[in-house]
Amino acid sequence: MPDVLRVTGGAPLTGEITVRGAKNFVSKAMVAALLGEGPSTLRNVPLIRDVDVVADLLRLHGVAVDYDDDAGVLRFDPSNVEQAHVRDIDALAGSSRIPILFCGPLLHRLGEAFIPDLGGCHIGDRPIDFHLQILRDFGAVVDKTATGIHITAPRGLRGTKAVLPYPSVGATEQTLLTAVRAEGLTELSNAATEPEIMDLIAVLQKMGAIISVDTDRTIRVEGVEKLMGYEHTSLPDRIEAASWASAALATGGDIMVRGAEQPGMTTYLNFYRKVGGTFDISDEGIRFYHPGGELKSIVLETDVHPGFMTDWQQPMVVALTQATGLSIIHETVYENRFGFTEALGRMGAQIQVYRECLGGLPCRFGQRNFNHSAVVSGPTPLRAADIVVPDLRGGFSHLIAALSAEGTSRVQGIELINRGYEHFMRKLSLLGAQVEMED
Ligand code: EPU
Repeated sequence: MPDVLRVTGGAPLTGEITVRGAKNFVSKAMVAALLGEGPSTLRNVPLIRDVDVVADLLRLHGVAVDYDDDAGVLRFDPSNVEQAHVRDIDALAGSSRIPILFCGPLLHRLGEAFIPDLGGCHIGDRPIDFHLQILRDFGAVVDKTATGIHITAPRGLRGTKAVLPYPSVGATEQTLLTAVRAEGLTELSNAATEPEIMDLIAVLQKMGAIISVDTDRTIRVEGVEKLMGYEHTSLPDRIEAASWASAALATGGDIMVRGAEQPGMTTYLNFYRKVGGTFDISDEGIRFYHPGGELKSIVLETDVHPGFMTDWQQPMVVALTQATGLSIIHETVYENRFGFTEALGRMGAQIQVYRECLGGLPCRFGQRNFNHSAVVSGPTPLRAADIVVPDLRGGFSHLIAALSAEGTSRVQGIELINRGYEHFMRKLSLLGAQVEMED
């Protein structure tokens, strides 16, 4: 199948689209279904590649999964959880980092788990050291082999007291999914508290877990012996919503994002307003638009919740190429999330990346050789180019840039965007974008 999209830019994106459940919650709630004694139902599930991958991983482990993609309803029956063949997990896992989160549930259900080499986006090293340390703290034995990591719990899993070196989303989820059925109390300090994590906690509570979250980001879990199935409706995807919002700004457009909700997007909305974008919030969603006139430059630092999400950064940078003056962006979550700016440079954007921490407090990457700050000088008209999609959010950002640019760009590797953006080709058409797959 051809994987090159021809994008003719220069026209504003206008119209209405709908976002459904959050990719970064749905995949975790799917793993949580493994912990239940009975069936679970998850609603508002988007049709994206990551959901397919996790559904296939669950099926490999004996879970019956039924997906009605029109209705967005996933049903799971985990009555017959079994060990999967290492070879089969490996074949699937290349495209996802979710297998690491299967460890806790599989250790509880089967006493062992296997994690192959993990995939995901190329935005940094993305190590799993916090995950492995937490699992060891619970009493698991971690054995690294040539093909991956084999984990066992010969004496069961016991609650633990741990401090995360950094509030990692995945390591917090790992702790939750393991602690809920571990024996005794678990206390996790410096935990991440993203809305997607709070929704996972809601799911686990429905299943019978006892979890509290303190104001200082300490999470406490009292392990229970048994969990039931759950019924839950996913929170909306605030990353997808913000991606379309930035597309409206970059192309001078007007997009009604049905399903988008204000909570979880407060920080993004503040910056949207500071840049000069306008939004109307209603019960149906949020309308994002460029009100005309100049956009303003800003100083922006990505951070864990409630800061400006790292996943909002890349699409916003494209919009900032159209703002007047110098914008400064300090990326503090991933060490290598500015690789996508090279293509923007070829399209005429003026973006300089720096090793130093600019515009904010020093971060973990300040004394190391990572280009994790950027200065964007605008406004610069963009021109068409040949682009290869580097990662999910970077790829969507390239697409926005191509839609803002004069002329026809060729965007290669478009399939990657299906990992996290539901029906994105259909949505582009609904918004009047001139795009066609190359023969
Ligand atoms: N980190 C470690 N060691 C670990 C785990 C994380 O050093 O064992 C570091 C990472 O390298 C990174 C930082 O901690 O520098 C934060 O990583 P985190 O664990 O929070 O990220 P994640 O759980 O792997 C999820 C999302 C990402 C999103 C981040 C931050 C999913 C499937 N992925 O990743 O989403 O950027 O949280 O919010 O939930 C995306 O959707 O495009 C995406 C990359």
